Amino acid sequence: APAVIVAIDGPSGTGKSSTSKAVAAQLGLSYLDTGAQYRAITWWMVTNGIDVDDPSEIAAVAGKPDIVSGTDPAGPTITVDGVDVAGPIRTQEVTAKVSAVSAVPEVRARITELQRSIAAAAEKGIVVEGRDIGTTVLPDADLKIFLTASPEARAARRSGELKNADVHATREALIKRDAADSNRKTSPLAKADDAVEVDTTDLTLPQVIECVVTLVEEKR
Ligand code: C5P
Repeated sequence: APAVIVAIDGPSGTGKSSTSKAVAAQLGLSYLDTGAQYRAITWWMVTNGIDVDDPSEIAAVAGKPDIVSGTDPAGPTITVDGVDVAGPIRTQEVTAKVSAVSAVPEVRARITELQRSIAAAAEKGIVVEGRDIGTTVLPDADLKIFLTASPEARAARRSGELKNADVHATREALIKRDAADSNRKTSPLAKADDAVEVDTTDLTLPQVIECVVTLVEEKR
């Protein structure tokens, strides 16, 4: 079969990562978590004392960190200048700052180029998950999925992942981040016109995976 390119977009807490990884593993495809790349560049900015409220300061150094993503769905990896940052990119501090960093056009241009080269090198095809994959990064993807879920379901899933009892605070932070991602000028979170929307509110993870696998198989 020729390499198939699958774009999976949507807000946080819709099961994007779990679904994308499982679909890639099941179909023998590579996997790219683009949110991890934006988190990695944010981690570098924070670690190097860059003021993330100053877009010009961010833009000036956007080309500096060397970000490398491993694309095995069984164990995706991410390094910045050779340092494994898989853990540090999931802290609350990075999560709170990632929307500001990823809104800077120079950051997006650089990371988008990286994403396109990774997708082009994936000989067996790839599942790429993010916010703007179907609209901007890979507009010619063979299949575009847009995952949604109610705010309540999304907050509950995130709180479960974080083993955090405070569903309310999680919900507020998540809504704030999605609003920032949806309202930024440069390639905001959006459903592509030709994307298939899947509302996961009342579906289990295995059901969502099966649904997406079926859609990919129809395209192959
Ligand atoms: O998917 P995840 O929650 O890890 O993404 C973290 C952040 O990275 C998002 O809130 C968004 O600000 C940014 N992002 C983006 N474009 C993408 C993927 C993620 O702007 N394609």
